[in-house]
Amino acid sequence: MITWPYPLVFAALFCCVQVILAQIKYSTPEDVKVGAIIGNVAKDLGLDVGTLISRRFRIVSGAQGTLFEVNPNNGALYVHENVDREQLCDRNVACLLDLKIVVENPLEVHYVTVEIIDTNDNRPSFAEKEKVIEIAETTLPGARFQLPGARDRDVGVNAVQIYKLSQNDHFHLEIRDRGEDKIPFLVLQRNLDRERKTNHSLILTAMDGGTPPKSANLSLNIKVLDNNDNRPVFSQEVYSVTLQENAPLDKTIIKVQATDLDEGINGDVEYTFGGDITSSVLRLFTLDRLTGEIRVIGEIDYETANVYNLDVQASDKGQPPMTTDCRIIIKIQDVNDNKPEIEVTSISSIVPEDSKQGTVVALITVTDADSGLNSKVICHLTENVPFELKPSFKENMYSLVTKESLDRETVSHYDISITATDCGEPPLSTFKKLNIQVSDVNDNFPEFSHNPLELYLTENNAAGASIFSVSAFDKDCNENAAVSYQILRGGAGRNVIASFVNIHPESGQITALKSFDFE
Ligand SMILES: *[C@@H]1O[C@H](CO)[C@@H](O)[C@H](O)[C@H]1NC(C)=O
Ligand SMILES: *[C@@H]1O[C@H](CO)[C@@H](O)[C@H](O)[C@H]1NC(C)=O
Repeated sequence: MITWPYPLVFAALFCCVQVILAQIKYSTPEDVKVGAIIGNVAKDLGLDVGTLISRRFRIVSGAQGTLFEVNPNNGALYVHENVDREQLCDRNVACLLDLKIVVENPLEVHYVTVEIIDTNDNRPSFAEKEKVIEIAETTLPGARFQLPGARDRDVGVNAVQIYKLSQNDHFHLEIRDRGEDKIPFLVLQRNLDRERKTNHSLILTAMDGGTPPKSANLSLNIKVLDNNDNRPVFSQEVYSVTLQENAPLDKTIIKVQATDLDEGINGDVEYTFGGDITSSVLRLFTLDRLTGEIRVIGEIDYETANVYNLDVQASDKGQPPMTTDCRIIIKIQDVNDNKPEIEVTSISSIVPEDSKQGTVVALITVTDADSGLNSKVICHLTENVPFELKPSFKENMYSLVTKESLDRETVSHYDISITATDCGEPPLSTFKKLNIQVSDVNDNFPEFSHNPLELYLTENNAAGASIFSVSAFDKDCNENAAVSYQILRGGAGRNVIASFVNIHPESGQITALKSFDFE
């Protein structure tokens, strides 16, 4: 495109040089090709084309001289080197190059101005590829964050015209004009939540107004900074666990765990026992502050307590900290660690031998401090005794009764052993010995060692002389075994004998009453 909007010609004469100030203005886009003709300056200057060679028609201007050349054959001004407006004029919107054209004989100097018109040959660019912006999650909507602008070496409409922000839920873009520059601002539109989204990746696009437009992208990495806005949460609200009594020291019972969605110290969780924990519980269990592990540090006795309820608090280290509680139910499982106990509530240690079958001799109570099967007790009695244990209406109470009739003369006392065994695994047993005497009843007749007894009286014996001694034995004892003797009267023979002999009632000594005459 060649234009000369106002070819004004001024002429001046200094001595022998004719300086012609011809302001001929040519325009060319900067992307013009090497060799392209911009215009015919010779014609425009009114020079005779046929004389140009002999008059040494040429450009003599300085720095920009080699960008353009004139053809002395036809007077055309053409492009000699690649033209870059940005290199020549940088940010100046008007890019005008003055060329000095000379002809000799006579010497004339002509000035020609070439205007280099900008083309959109540069894209916008950001100084860096990525921009990290940190925003606290408590930041209120409306907050503004200045973004770096893009540069474009082109000018006018070919420079940056608009900024765009990629589609997103939390931010929009605001452009402020600062002189010639447009400054993009990121404006928070909605509350951020670090726990929902930590990073927001956006793209800021800068576009120039060229045809077609050129653009550049800047990655915006928005890091949401944490606030302590989450409390720790236990994996369970109630933890239930069973623990055997007599558990070894240091045994781990359970590990509680709380998580906190916040970051850093705001999410660092520590565990402590709840405030109302008793010192006796603290002597049995310990809680690891960092791991949430609960371990045994004392002797666990089911018979002391069969369940423990502990409250554990989880706290983060934010300022101020946030806390949560959970409950731990430790059920103690019984172990068969107690022997049964046998208590003899009452006993008649002397039993008459004529006691009826079923006579109660003793009342026995058995107890076991364990629970469940470990406390269920079964009682046995020594075998081969005429007694048995009868369970009573009340659990764990027994009566010892006679099972058969007794006979003191056969067995006069019994050593009975009662065994109480629980149903634990392994079972535990206790023994109790009872000594039972069978008391005598007069149930035996005295018996003579010989019966009938034949004895001979010698004739003419002296009165009072000892004849014989009888003896009878009674299996009973004491009074029941004391024997007294007498000679029975009545009946013919008996009366005769009774008149001749006498018997000593205690010793059984028979003596003659009078002399006996056989005839
Ligand atoms: C957020 O970005 C940082 C780097 O900028 C990265 O280390 C982190 O993993 C990202 N987090 C998420 C949740 O994408
Ligand atoms: C800028 O990013 C958009 C969206 O990712 C993409 O379509 C476009 O090609 C990018 N432009 C440049 C110049 O990288």
